[in-house]
Amino acid sequence: MSGDPSRAPRRLLFGGDWNPEQWPREVWDDDVRLMREAGVTTATLGVFSWSVLEPEEGRYDFRLLDDALDLLHRNGLDAFLATPTASPPPWFTLAHPDALPVSADGTRLTHGSRDTYCLAAPAYREASLRIATALGERYGDHPAVLGWHVHNEYGTQCWCDHAAAAFRTWLRARYDTLDALNSAWGTAFWSQRYGEWEQVLPPRATQYLHNPAHLLDFKRWTSDELLACFTEQRDALRASGSTAPVTTNFMLPTWNHLEQWSWSREQDLVSLDHYLDTTGPDGEAHAAYGADLARSWAGGRPWLLMEQSAGGITTWGAGGASTTAHKEPSRMLRNSLSYLARGSQGSLFFQWRASTAGAETWHSALVPHAGPDSEGFRTACELGATLRAVAEMAEPPVDGPVVEADVALLWHAEGWWALESGGLPSERLDYSDAVRRTHRELYHLGMAVDVVEPGADLGRYRLVAVPSLAGMDDATVTALHRYVKEQGGHLVVFPFTGVADQNLRVVAGGYPGRLRDLLGVRVEQMRPLVPGEEVRLDDGSTGASWSELVHTEQAGATRRYLGGGLSGLPATTVREYEGGGQAHYVSTELAPADLRRLLAGLVRGAGARRVVGDLPEGVEAIRRRGARGSFLVLLNHGPGTVTCAGPGLDMLSGQPLEQPARLHPGGYLVIKEDAGSSHSDAWQVTATDTAPGG
Ligand code: GLA
Repeated sequence: MSGDPSRAPRRLLFGGDWNPEQWPREVWDDDVRLMREAGVTTATLGVFSWSVLEPEEGRYDFRLLDDALDLLHRNGLDAFLATPTASPPPWFTLAHPDALPVSADGTRLTHGSRDTYCLAAPAYREASLRIATALGERYGDHPAVLGWHVHNEYGTQCWCDHAAAAFRTWLRARYDTLDALNSAWGTAFWSQRYGEWEQVLPPRATQYLHNPAHLLDFKRWTSDELLACFTEQRDALRASGSTAPVTTNFMLPTWNHLEQWSWSREQDLVSLDHYLDTTGPDGEAHAAYGADLARSWAGGRPWLLMEQSAGGITTWGAGGASTTAHKEPSRMLRNSLSYLARGSQGSLFFQWRASTAGAETWHSALVPHAGPDSEGFRTACELGATLRAVAEMAEPPVDGPVVEADVALLWHAEGWWALESGGLPSERLDYSDAVRRTHRELYHLGMAVDVVEPGADLGRYRLVAVPSLAGMDDATVTALHRYVKEQGGHLVVFPFTGVADQNLRVVAGGYPGRLRDLLGVRVEQMRPLVPGEEVRLDDGSTGASWSELVHTEQAGATRRYLGGGLSGLPATTVREYEGGGQAHYVSTELAPADLRRLLAGLVRGAGARRVVGDLPEGVEAIRRRGARGSFLVLLNHGPGTVTCAGPGLDMLSGQPLEQPARLHPGGYLVIKEDAGSSHSDAWQVTATDTAPGG
């Protein structure tokens, strides 16, 4: 069985996590009244309700959900009903101490927070499956159940003996023989050769650096084992006869324990929790990044923003998530529209009503501690009205992706895991940062961007960028060759890409061994830069963090290093192919403005189209395709007023856009475009000179 995207909702959802078990019954009625007032459609229910639903092992008590689902239904609301398996109750710990997770240093964790279970422990898997089955049987045909929200943000790791046994089983299936494993992992180094399968353990705390291939396989196993946790619950829910879509919420920016491509194929609907991690203007680029990832994981189909924060910017630190800054109302609205324009079927939040106790008491909510007489709730009402006005956007196109992009970035969780493995040539190598940096500049250039799976057919893109994907398998290399040589594509490769095979074994003879021929370069030496150190290029660009001693073989230099030990040597290169394909290489980490300039040239050279011609700084334009036409969303994140002119219907006013519309700072427009006008030249967005206050 796999995911069935035809089950995904075809309308826009608005709402969030509702935790009625935290509140007296009379508050529920108030909740539902306020939900209706705000235009909420959907509550996510039961995410952390296990100890209420199963107060003792095997004794279920469904009064909470019976009552809550009926209340929602009577009020015309529906629910994403969760399976509560992210937080086993305290009785579980005492009954099954072997099912508690053990960290890499051998510490067995205990209850008192959430996510305290071993993903491979039979008792945990059985208890999870039992409660998921019971929920499916009881609510599979409940009219309020719009979808199933399995678990919450899968990502728990464990290094215990259950994990060890399951890891070995996975390794045997992957390698078949110990010889193959020893060879793949390079265990000749530091006397690590395994003579019996039982000698292979999870990468537990050890004296010094781990074997990177061992670490990488452990991450792969963790992702696969967690996926089995998900699919067995999904299958139990489906066995109840329910046809509601089954999803589980991915988490970004920091929670990267899953290989999202394989996971997405198993879900009926891809969903994402996304928390801005910056207070500055980069927050908007970050929202776009999360949305582009989610839509791409969903195969270009609509997906769902399962959580964002209502009124706070969250910072993720060692002490967990904390709200460090206010998210102003217009930002919450613009972010919601940005996710929506990039394919989300709505905007859901964590959480509906702010808790007054517990670990996340201070997290923002649609109904804050102050109650409905608050900026937060008024903003929720405004978003509800906005989503109602643009409801038509939800109907997916009959064919093709919901957003059309000419540019793509290669993205894979393994690229991230590889750069977490330690012992790298520079501590400053950071996969997520490298991908986000490239995405950010494409975003600022006004491009629609997809991310693509290594090995996928790239033929429909004009330009494909590959940031720091260190290990590459044959399928990925073949797809890139085909793209450039047969499909005439333009490719740009950034440092520390294709330097090794899929087990992180370096391909010797010059970097990047896996792509040397395609790029026509041979990198003799990596020369990482220390903080504060920079290199200059002959076009005025500067680079930091990284530089390389590059020899052009079949390629030509497009920029050279200027000054320093690499002076006069190639810094960026291109190999051109008959048929128009181009393979570019960039050997340093360019400063943001320089990277933008380089990408602008590549975008132009590749003939990739912007969403709207030229945009004033700070204005975002994105086009979403629908069943009967396209929708242009214009968001003004910048400090100045802009004027927007083009053919279409202003969906918020319901009026045709006959006169150019003025978009004040923080403002937004959603246009249903006239037939034939969904191209970049149909629109003019220009900065407006206004008197102060004008
Ligand atoms: C996550 C979780 C929520 C909540 C929020 C806020 O995304 O899914 O349960 O913890 O973060 O921190």
